[in-house]
Amino acid sequence: MIVYHNGHYVDKESVCISPEDRGFNFADGVYEVVRCYKGVPFRLQEHFKRLGRSLRELRLDIGPLDALQTIPSELIQRNHLSKGDASVYVQVSRGVAPRSHPFPQATEPTIYAAAAPLEPPIDKWRNGIKVICVPDIRWARCDIKTTSLMANVLANQQAVEAGADEALFVRDGAVTEGTLSNFGAVFDGQLWTYPESNYILPGITRQVVLDLCPNLQIPVRTRPIMADRLCAASEALVMGTTKEVTPVVKINNDMIGNGKPGPLTKKLQQAFRDLIESRRPV
Ligand code: PDD
Repeated sequence: MIVYHNGHYVDKESVCISPEDRGFNFADGVYEVVRCYKGVPFRLQEHFKRLGRSLRELRLDIGPLDALQTIPSELIQRNHLSKGDASVYVQVSRGVAPRSHPFPQATEPTIYAAAAPLEPPIDKWRNGIKVICVPDIRWARCDIKTTSLMANVLANQQAVEAGADEALFVRDGAVTEGTLSNFGAVFDGQLWTYPESNYILPGITRQVVLDLCPNLQIPVRTRPIMADRLCAASEALVMGTTKEVTPVVKINNDMIGNGKPGPLTKKLQQAFRDLIESRRPV
């Protein structure tokens, strides 16, 4: 597999990253996951805009990101992944320095990116998934896409052990988002999702969904969804680069609606699919 490492496309096995990399010692870094459909990166500009924001919030200056934007396409081509779906992981850490908490002086960042094939979870899109609720023990800057993901890892593992597909974080009684997705629920024909704030990642898929809603005549409420109201939701869904729009049919032990993907969720899934298809080269 060919990966990108500090300006070079090299074989993954030849990459050597120092044990003193601050990404390894402190999770002092940020990342993006870009989805590519038949070789075409989806919402590339938005991903790099968010990467730029994450870097600024960490005061990690790597200069203009323009040159890095070719990485996803280049990796897809070099790894012959343009026939199907793929994801590209891009990570920037503050670089290598003896372990000490403050920023090191004049350290070069470590930039790493790799592509992987992605099998569309057709069955989950069609039938929906089960999720669980867990306390949101994360820090108060969930808007930064940092590689410090311990709380997300623990919660996702808890979901797996409960036979669920995703865990929803609950903070101050409200569902903020999932461990790797944003969350939405339908009440009285309106799509509710947590407002953009420091408590959620401003998801690119979430924004696409919100932008699709007016044309589909789906009213949107960007308001906190109280966890104790979830049983009153007629539909629920998660949104993310790897999940696209996935219906949620069970939360903890409670069935949502009739336990099948709801009509608004299906409409959004279809509109999302149409959007992707329309961007594909013929
Ligand atoms: N996660 N919320 C969290 C906490 C996330 O980690 C993600 C994405 C999202 C959805 O954002 P987007 O639509 O921009 O992918 C929401 C990526 C895919 C991951 O960590 O693998």
